[in-house]
Amino acid sequence: MKLLVCGGAGFIGSNFVRARVSEFGDEVTVLDKLTYAGRKENLEGIDHRFVHGAIEDPASVADAIRGAEAVVNFAAETHVDRSISEPDAFVRTHSLGTFVLLEAAREHSLRYLQVSTDEVYGSIESGSFTEESPLEPSSPYSATKAGADLLVQSYSRTFDLETVICRGSNNYGPYQYPEKLIPLMILNALHGDQLPVYGDGQQVRNWLHVSDFCSGIGRVLEQGASGEVYNVGGPDECANLEVVERIIEMTGADPALLTYVTDRPGHDRRYSLSSEKIKALGWEAQHQFAQGLAETVAWYQEHAAWWEPIRSGDYRAYYERQYGKSLG
Ligand code: NAD
Ligand code: DAU
Repeated sequence: MKLLVCGGAGFIGSNFVRARVSEFGDEVTVLDKLTYAGRKENLEGIDHRFVHGAIEDPASVADAIRGAEAVVNFAAETHVDRSISEPDAFVRTHSLGTFVLLEAAREHSLRYLQVSTDEVYGSIESGSFTEESPLEPSSPYSATKAGADLLVQSYSRTFDLETVICRGSNNYGPYQYPEKLIPLMILNALHGDQLPVYGDGQQVRNWLHVSDFCSGIGRVLEQGASGEVYNVGGPDECANLEVVERIIEMTGADPALLTYVTDRPGHDRRYSLSSEKIKALGWEAQHQFAQGLAETVAWYQEHAAWWEPIRSGDYRAYYERQYGKSLG
C-alpha cells in the first residue's frame, strides 16, 4: 500500500512505519511536526519520504498526501500531565489537525484510520469497555482525542468517507519518550533517581506491547469495516506500583528510590478494554506483559545512544517543572 503516516516519527508511529515497510513492503510518506516527542532518529534506516510539517497546516498536508492510497493518523500530543499544564497544543492538533486531514482525505477519496485511545471512555471500576461504551473523558488530552473521534465518525456518516478508528490501551516498548511511566521508571532506576509514584499507585493500566498495537492497526486498516471503531487492548492489567516494583527488581535499583508523590488531578483509576471485535478479524496480542517488560528494560539498557540526548536536553527542564526535582 501507499500510506501517508502522520506522526510517524513518534513512539508508536515509528514502530508502525518500520513494520509496514519491512514486513509488508508499503511505500510510506511520514508527515510529522517533530515536536519534543518526534525524532527523525526513530526512523533511521527505514526507507520512506519525510515531510516536516503540522497536520493542521493544509499546505504541508497537500504536499504529504500526494500519491497516498490511505491515511493513518498517529499525530497527537500524547502526555496527560502536559495536557493539564499546557492544554493549548492538544486542542489545536487534535481538533484542527484532524479536521484538516479529514478534508484532505475527503478531497482525494482516501481511506482514513484514526489512532485513538481507551482514555476516551474514562475510568472503569470493574469489567471492560466495549466499542459501544459512552465517551466520558477526564483530561484535556482524552477530551480532545474523543472530539477527534467524533469528527472522524461525522465524516463517515455525512460525507461517506471510508473511516476506521482504533482505540488502543497503554503501549510500552522501544522508542517511547521517557515522560511516560515505564521508560521514566526504567531510566530513573538506572540512574539512581527517585521513582515518583502518583497517589497510592493502585491505578490499573491495561498494558499492550507496541508491536501488538501496530499489528492491530494494520489489521483494521486492511479489514476493518468502514465507519466502525475497534478496541485494541493488551492481554494483561497491572497496578502502577507493581509495574515499578518489577522494574526495580529487573534493574537491581534500590527500592528506597520509590517515592509517593502528589496525585495527578482527575486521575483515571482503571482502564480495561474488551478486544473481542478486533479478535474476530483474526488479531491477537503476541506479547505477555512480564516478558515484554523484561525485553523493554533490556532495550533501554542497550540503547543509551537513543535516550542520552533526550535525557540531557529539554526533558530535564520538563522534569523539574513536573516533579519539582532535578534528574541526577
Ligand atoms: P508520541 O508523543 O510518541 O508521538 C507523537 C508524534 O506526533 C510525534 O512524532 C510528534 O512530533 C507528532 N506530532 C505532534 N503534533 C503534531 C502535529 N500537529 N502535526 C504533525 N505531527 C505532530 O505519541 P505515541 O505514544 O506514539 O502516540 C501516537 C498515537 O497513538 C496518538 O494519537 C495517541 O493518542 C495514540 N495512543 C497512544 C497510546 C500510548 O500508550 N502511547 C495508547 C493508545 C493510543
Ligand atoms: O491508555 C492509553 C494512554 O496511555 C494513551 O492514550 C496516552 O497517550 C499515554 O500517555 C498513556 O496515558 P497514561 O496517562 O495512562 O500514561 P502515563 O505513562 O502518563 O501514566 C501511566 C500511569 O502511571 C498513570 O496511572 C499515571 C502513573 N504515573 C505516571 C508517571 C509519568 C505515575 O505514577 N508516575 C509518573 O511519573
